[in-house]
Amino acid sequence: MVSDSQRFSMPRNVQRVSFQRPTEIHAAEVWELIAKCPPLDRNSLYCELLLCTDFADTCVLAEHAGAVVGWMSAYRRPSEPSTLFIWQIAVHPEIRNAGVGKGLIISALNRPCCESVTHIKATVTLSNRASMSFFAGVARNLRAPIRQALCFDRDIHFKDSRRASIR
Ligand SMILES: CC(C)(COP(=O)(O)OP(=O)(O)OC[C@H]1O[C@@H](n2cnc3c(N)ncnc32)[C@H](O)[C@@H]1OP(=O)(O)O)[C@@H](O)C(=O)NCCC(=O)NCCS
Repeated sequence: MVSDSQRFSMPRNVQRVSFQRPTEIHAAEVWELIAKCPPLDRNSLYCELLLCTDFADTCVLAEHAGAVVGWMSAYRRPSEPSTLFIWQIAVHPEIRNAGVGKGLIISALNRPCCESVTHIKATVTLSNRASMSFFAGVARNLRAPIRQALCFDRDIHFKDSRRASIR
């Protein structure tokens, strides 16, 4: 559960990065950025176009010096609108550990459409230690406890692929 305050402060060192709502113009750049951010799955460009249009209220783009350096795809769960589901977060390798990833989440939470959001849900592949540490850091920053449970199982949901996701 995120803290009661709906206004969260941005990490201090991301002042030269702008966080904004995406438009269809950004989809191709988002698609390119994700390709530079393994182990994220690369979606179709069409999927990114839909995220940048139909889900733009809850998706966030980070720009620095005119280039897209960060991306978060997220939506409020239809069956549970007080929960923001974070699908993918990608930060350009050259600008990591500067608070951009955290800034993407805070930027979404500070939008009017997320005023009633009390929980964040994300699935993390068990082998992605960086992602686990990242979400632990974000939870600490928001003073929110973390609850973990198996969400998608390797054998049942991913068939022969080598991963499992916890939320
Ligand atoms: C995970 C990722 C989004 C983090 O972005 P970032 O801008 O570097 O993260 P931030 O600078 O905002 O860091 C926020 C917190 O996460 C921690 N963190 C970030 N990357 C980490 C890493 N590789 N290992 C351990 N901790 C890490 C930071 O130390 C910080 O914790 P703190 O608040 O206690 O200091 C980025 O590394 C990335 O794009 N990775 C590849 C794609 C991916 O795995 N995405 C996540 C799954 S959806």
